[in-house]
Amino acid sequence: MFFKINDFVKWVGKIDWDLTKFHGEEYSVSRGSSYNSYLIEDEKTVLIDTVWEPFSKEFVQNLEKVIDLDKIDYIVANHGEIDHSGALPDLMEKIPNVPIYCTQNAVDSIKGHYHKDWNFNVVKTGDILDIGKNTLVFIEARMLHWPDTMMTYMSGEDILFSNDAFGQHFASEQMYNDLVADQDELFAEAIKYYANILTPFSKLVINKIKELQGMKVPVNMILPSHGIIWRDNPMQIVEKYLEWADNYKENQITLLYDTMWNGTKRLAETIAKGIKSVDEEVTVKLMNTGKKDKNDVLTEVFKSKTIGVGSPTINQTVLHSVAGILDMIKSLKFRDKNAIAYGTYGWSGESTKIIKEELEKAKFSIIDEPLLVKWNPDEESLKKAFDLGIKISKK
Ligand code: FEO
Repeated sequence: MFFKINDFVKWVGKIDWDLTKFHGEEYSVSRGSSYNSYLIEDEKTVLIDTVWEPFSKEFVQNLEKVIDLDKIDYIVANHGEIDHSGALPDLMEKIPNVPIYCTQNAVDSIKGHYHKDWNFNVVKTGDILDIGKNTLVFIEARMLHWPDTMMTYMSGEDILFSNDAFGQHFASEQMYNDLVADQDELFAEAIKYYANILTPFSKLVINKIKELQGMKVPVNMILPSHGIIWRDNPMQIVEKYLEWADNYKENQITLLYDTMWNGTKRLAETIAKGIKSVDEEVTVKLMNTGKKDKNDVLTEVFKSKTIGVGSPTINQTVLHSVAGILDMIKSLKFRDKNAIAYGTYGWSGESTKIIKEELEKAKFSIIDEPLLVKWNPDEESLKKAFDLGIKISKK
């Protein structure tokens, strides 16, 4: 299967409708994904990226139907992660001497994965590969999101092969953004992708986009390595990235909690009532971290100006789903957000202190001392929870 993007470029990747988890079990996928590989046929023939290893043989067989493999002059590996380099071993068995253009760090990652010494050609930002009517310009994008990542700009057709950046885990036969019927679905996947993968690198995202803007080159299309192609107003996703990278927040407060006998849940519900009592406009979401998908929870944290994190105390600590989400929150390096801790206990009562400390380590501004309630909340405790909601709202 392939489809023609323009007179020079064909998509030769794989749509993965069945994918439910990515990065092992770390990233949930609810709308499938794709591994986008692109074939450029100019005076020279170039393959940009491949697909994930389970689809390797299918990819090579498919590619053989599209083109005589011996006609491929160059391979560009924008990124060494296995979802894009996974078909290289099978492909290189057929065309072992074809040069692979990639960064020095990609040589390291690709060799590290496959332990093969292929014909690597190291490139840096600004290096150019003349392929006929068009030229390819390489742009290193270190830590977006691996040290090896780069983008490739095809001048002539003004196409940016952006790799993971601007991608989404979104399977669609309608491969262009303007053909996606439900734009909310598309952007929900794009923001989830940003929140869960790119947030720690937001400063680099801004710098890289400014660098790209500084090149003052037209961008007719953005062809990422996952999901749909940005054909209609491609800069809209670039604008979104600039917004998301700039300590993004909406008028939203999210109350995370896990609960054993619903005491901490009642606190969350009452805090929410307190918030809404003084602010009708703010979006308040309650999320049970023991039940909700962790990546959806993190996406809601990304969208929030303030979060609350609640847990009862168990064995002198917090429930495991709260511990896990706090660790993920810390690793994603969210900035410029407020937080509060709350929870119930029966005897030792360490949970809220632990939550507060973890939130401080994650660089959240703590609005107030934790709300710690013994046993099941009574009227007085619920009043404190309601008042805390008011305080959060007014912050
Ligand atoms: Fe889609 Fe970083 O690989």
